[in-house]
Amino acid sequence: MNIIIFGPPGAGKGTQSSLIVKQFKLHQLSTGALLRKEISVKSDLGNQISSIISSGNLVSDEIVGNLIEKYVSKKIYKGRTIFDGYPRNLAQAKYLDFLLKKYDQKIDIVLKLSVSLETIKKRISERQILEKRVDDNEEIAIKRFKTYENNIRPIIDYYEQSDLLKVVNGEATISEISDEISALIKGNKGWL
Ligand code: AP5
Ligand code: MG
Repeated sequence: MNIIIFGPPGAGKGTQSSLIVKQFKLHQLSTGALLRKEISVKSDLGNQISSIISSGNLVSDEIVGNLIEKYVSKKIYKGRTIFDGYPRNLAQAKYLDFLLKKYDQKIDIVLKLSVSLETIKKRISERQILEKRVDDNEEIAIKRFKTYENNIRPIIDYYEQSDLLKVVNGEATISEISDEISALIKGNKGWL
C-alpha cells in the first residue's frame, strides 16, 4: 500500500506519518526531511536549496523528483511508502504517477489534513522552541501556508477525479486523527 499525506505546514503530516509507519510497517518518505538533511550535511544540493527553504518557497520539481526516485526505485520501499509532503503541485502529482508506473506501483489512498491558519501559527510557534527549523517563524510559516494554498487546488481535483482523496480534520487531537487514518487504511482495498 502506498499513501500520500498532504496538508499545510504544521498540519501534522510528519506526526501522523510516523504513527502510520509504526502501525502498518511502512516507510516514511518526507521530502522536507530529506532536503533538510542535505542542508545539514552542507552538500552541494544543500547549499543550493538552503535559501529557498528558508524563504518558504518550493524547491524545484526536478530536485525533489530526483530525490524521490532514489527511494521509489528501492525494493524495500515498493508498495510500502507514505509520501509526506510530496506531491506539492500538479506537475509533481503527475510525475509521481509516472514514477510509480515505471516501478510497477500505484497510490492507494490520498489523505488531506485540513487545518486553519490560526492553528498552524500556534503549532509552529510551539515547535520553533524545540526543533529550531530555519523556516519555523511566523512570517515564513504564513508564507509556506500561502505557497501551499497557491498550489493545492489542482492536486485536490486530480485525486478527487481518481476517487483516492480522503479529507481528515487535522484540528482534532493527535490520537483522534490517528484513529481516523487507521480506519481509512484498514478499510482500503489496497490493505485488505
Ligand atoms: P516540510 O518539511 O514538508 O514542511 P511543511 O509542509 O511546512 O510541514 P511541516 O513539516 O512544518 O508540518 P507537518 O505537517 O509535518 O506537521 P508536524 O507533524 O511536524 O517542507 C519544508 C520545505 O521543504 C518546504 O517549504 C519546501 O521549501 C521544501 N519542500 C518539501 N517538499 C517539497 C516538494 N515536494 N516540492 C518542493 N519543495 C518541497 O506537526 C507540527 C507541530 O504540531 C508539531 O510540533 C506537532 O507535535 C504538533 N501537532 C501535530 N499534530 C497535532 C495535533 N493534532 N494537535 C496538536 N498538535 C499537533
Ligand atoms: Mg513535516
